[in-house]
Formats: sequence, structure tokens, C-alpha cells
Amino acid sequence: MSSGPFDPAPFLLEEYLGIWEFQGEHYLTASDAETLTIEELLAFADPDERARFERLPLSYAPTWGGEELRAEIADLYEGLGPEHVLAFAGAEEALFWALQELAGPGDHALVTVPNYQSFETIPLTAGAEVEGIVLDPDAGWEPDIEAIARQMRPDTKLVAVNFPNNPTGAIPSQQTWRALVALCEEHGATLLSDEVYRGLEVDEARRLPQAAESPGSTISLNVMSKSYGLPGLRIGWLATRDRALLERLEKRKHYTSICNATPSEALATIALRNGPAIQRRNRDLIAANLPLFEAAFAAHPEHLEWEAPAGGCVSFPRYLGDDGVEAFCRELVETAGVVFLPASIYTSALGPVPTDRFRIGVGRRDPEAALAALGRFLER
Ligand SMILES: Cc1ncc(COP(=O)(O)O)c(C=O)c1O
Repeated sequence: MSSGPFDPAPFLLEEYLGIWEFQGEHYLTASDAETLTIEELLAFADPDERARFERLPLSYAPTWGGEELRAEIADLYEGLGPEHVLAFAGAEEALFWALQELAGPGDHALVTVPNYQSFETIPLTAGAEVEGIVLDPDAGWEPDIEAIARQMRPDTKLVAVNFPNNPTGAIPSQQTWRALVALCEEHGATLLSDEVYRGLEVDEARRLPQAAESPGSTISLNVMSKSYGLPGLRIGWLATRDRALLERLEKRKHYTSICNATPSEALATIALRNGPAIQRRNRDLIAANLPLFEAAFAAHPEHLEWEAPAGGCVSFPRYLGDDGVEAFCRELVETAGVVFLPASIYTSALGPVPTDRFRIGVGRRDPEAALAALGRFLER
């Protein structure tokens, strides 16, 4: 029983974007791939699907998520059925409840650092003891399995990771991934894997298996927002063979969104049926963008050091100027309208995060004007 209100620390990234996301002229830090319009998405639908969408009753949906949606999601996972899927309002609602359920008072949890802040703030606020799995740029952001093995304890209940990683774009090797899965299984810890950027690997051979298909207590988190470019749908999900866990979480969802929006469920179903084509579009866009970013950075070697993501559509390159990355990002957005996220947004209570980096987004179409504005700012 909680002793007081659930009062998480301010969400630095969301507060910063609350100011700049819709105000900056050049949003060059987007965490999602190029947004599809409803018209573009419906162009993937066959006439029957389109007609059904137009006649859709704007009723409540089942809390678990509608049958068609959950069947499409389950099809993404070898060996899982619709009963192994619980839909949420975005990935964020899933994180909010799953992290509280899996890491409370008396539990020990390990989470990747740097991270999307929910990863550490939710379990810390819930009263868990949380430690970082620190990704080190000098090790190519590769998790150190031996260090993780040393951090594991008998009370380690949860290991929560995110690959491809926000903000670094890092993907561990297949060998490291297998070792991590085995380590969790050996220690009886639940592995919660945030796979929202899966499908956007620069080299598809580096795509990791989905945790929910792996042995042990494993959960995959995914969403329509990032690799599909459909954040406005607010459709996310957890997939796991642990049906009892999903039943507990479904009861919690009654207190937040109750159910997803029915038009969103229908549109997400259409998108998932065409998922490979949509993700290919986004991978192609990123592949076309990366040389543009690389060239723009190479033109200013005294200020910028490029680092391409291994996957996903964000990366965390370095700023080398004497004024520091915080002043750089502030002045850049205030005078040139280019929005980046400075390193301080990713400050962690759980381990070091480099202080000379900034997050950029590489998944949006036509970044040339924004990169030119960045160039003019640096030449001023
Ligand atoms: C790694 C990661 N997980 C989860 C989320 C939350 O996703 P959503 O906005 O779809 O709820 C984000 C959003 O930026 C993210 O970057």
C-alpha cells in the first residue's frame, strides 16, 4: 500500500520538448521516423478495410485492445498469440504501469543509462533500488556483460533495456544480447526490452531477436510511434508469455486510459498489416539522410563530431566548442530555431552520461534546410 501520492521527478525531456517541439523552426531532434498522414496510411488499405474504417463506430474498445489489433501484434512474435498482448496508450502508459508492477519497494532493478527517463524515474519513485547498466561511448556503447553479472543480486527482479537505444542509437552485438538474456534467466530476473526502434537498423543483420520470443521471464515493449512514424495514434503494447502479469496490468489500465481510441486501433491494424513496407520506407529515408548529416558535421570539425546511429532514428554526437553543449543548444534554438536536446536532458541518477553530447533525429524527410541553418549558425 502506497504511503503517499505517486510523485515522480519532472520529466526533463518532455518538459524541454513542451517548450520547443512546436515552437522551433527546425525540429532536428525528432525521436520518430517521418510522420505518415491518414491519407498516406489509408492508401495502404484495401477498399474493404477503407470502407470499414469509414463506418467505424466511435465506441469504447476492449481494455486489452481489440481482437484484430491484438491478432496483428501477436503475428509479429513467434510462438505468441493475442492472449499474450496487452495494448496501451503509447509506449509510455505501458512503461508507467509495467515498471511499477515489476520494481517496487524491496526490489532491485537494473536499467540502461542513458535512458528515456521513465526507465529510471518510475521504478525509483515506486521505491525500488535501481542501478544503471552504463553504456560507455569509449566501448562503442556496448553493455559490459561482466559488469552486469557483478551487479545481479538475489533480489534483482527487473532488468530493463532499450536497444536500439535512445539517445545513442546503440545496438549490442548478438553475442552480448544472448548473454544478457541468459544472465536474466539464470538469475530469475524479468527482462523488459524496449524495442520501439527495432526495424530501423542501419545494417539489418544487426537486428536483435525480440525479448518476448526468448526463454525466461521476458517482455517486449513496442509502439506505433517510432519505427512506423505514427505517434499520433498513441498505440503501444506489451507482449509476453506471462499472461498473469498482463492480467494484473490490465486492471491497472482501468485507472488510466481504460482503452485505446477505436480509430487509432483501426489505423494501427492497417499499418501493422503493411508494417514491413512502412519500416522499409523509413529505413530508406534514414539511409538517404545519414550522408547529409555526416557532411554537415564534417564541414565544422572544430565544433562537431559526427556519430551515426547503429539503429533507430536518433544519435548522440559530440559538441566540441568551448562554450559547452548546453549554451550551444540554447543559443542555437533561440537564434536559429534549430532544436537539439543537450546532454543535461539525459542526466541520470544511476551513472555517468557524457556532458558534451546532444541528441539529433535523422528520421525526418528533407533535413537540408535545418542543416543549412545549423551551418550558418556555426559560421556566424
Ligand atoms: C525509448 C523510448 N521508449 C518509449 C517512449 C515513449 O513512446 P510513446 O511516445 O510512443 O509513448 C519513447 C519516446 O520517445 C522512447 O524514446
